[in-house]
Amino acid sequence: MAYMLVTGACGVLGGKFCELLAETDDLFLTGRSEERLLKLKEKIVSLGFSGDVLTFAADLNSEEDRAALFSFADENGVKFGGVINVAGADIRKEFVKYTPEKVVFQTRINFEAAVAVTHGAILRRAEKIKILAVSSMCAVMPMPYFALYSATKAALINFFTALRYEIKDAKITVLIAGSIPTRADVREDIKSQGITGRLSAKPPEYVAAKALKALNKGKRKIIVGFYNKFNYYFQKILPTAIKCGVMGNRWKKRPKDGF
Ligand SMILES: NC(=O)c1ccc[n+]([C@@H]2O[C@H](COP(=O)([O-])OP(=O)(O)OC[C@H]3O[C@@H](n4cnc5c(N)ncnc54)[C@H](OP(=O)(O)O)[C@@H]3O)[C@@H](O)[C@H]2O)c1
Repeated sequence: MAYMLVTGACGVLGGKFCELLAETDDLFLTGRSEERLLKLKEKIVSLGFSGDVLTFAADLNSEEDRAALFSFADENGVKFGGVINVAGADIRKEFVKYTPEKVVFQTRINFEAAVAVTHGAILRRAEKIKILAVSSMCAVMPMPYFALYSATKAALINFFTALRYEIKDAKITVLIAGSIPTRADVREDIKSQGITGRLSAKPPEYVAAKALKALNKGKRKIIVGFYNKFNYYFQKILPTAIKCGVMGNRWKKRPKDGF
């Protein structure tokens, strides 16, 4: 059977992807907490869809955990019909205030984990495979005080765009997401951005649905919402110094951590 592998499944956006995918696909869900995965599985089963749901708890920054996840898949005869790379960390602060562990953590979960999980799934792919990477509007320009997030999400765009040309029979899409009111701190953060936050924000279920539609159509990228599309193209004509000045001023005042 072909399973859709969803990383960050227990997160807010990940959960919305799972609910939508459950309508059509067998699911292989991963996150760090076994307990939260089992609760999510219960919720999905209660929706009444007939597909299979497998769960495997893994810290995707750990090579051992990733190997164990794929061993579990092999033991269960799993082939992957898709990967939805949602896991990520939006730590945002002055770079010198990071601990060395945080630098490694954010770099790995935002980029290495998505690449390694995708690699493992491709090696075990069903006849056809669909791959989605969740990037961000923050990736489309350098962002002082959000530099590592911006850079790792930009790396996702380059990597998955390039992969389309290597694996021509796969559907590979990058979601370049604007603001998504997910966790409580993210919702507060969007509110504090005023009009620009409101214009950029789209609900997680809407973003997930748009992303899956684009993936099924084999689109290279999906930007959700008029304001975000406008910004994506408008920022290209602005000088880098102006972009960095504006974004640096915005993010300097709004540090946040994550684990
Ligand atoms: N919210 C926004 O405005 C926005 C905008 C653009 C892009 N995004 C991206 O959308 C994605 C989902 O974000 P969200 O807002 O829904 O936040 P979220 O609920 O915090 O989801 C993040 C997910 O990443 C997983 N994760 C973190 N570190 C991990 C690790 N070491 N191993 C395995 N899983 C790990 C978490 O899994 P656990 O269940 O184990 O905690 C969690 O499910 C992220 O990639 C984010 O960068 C969000």
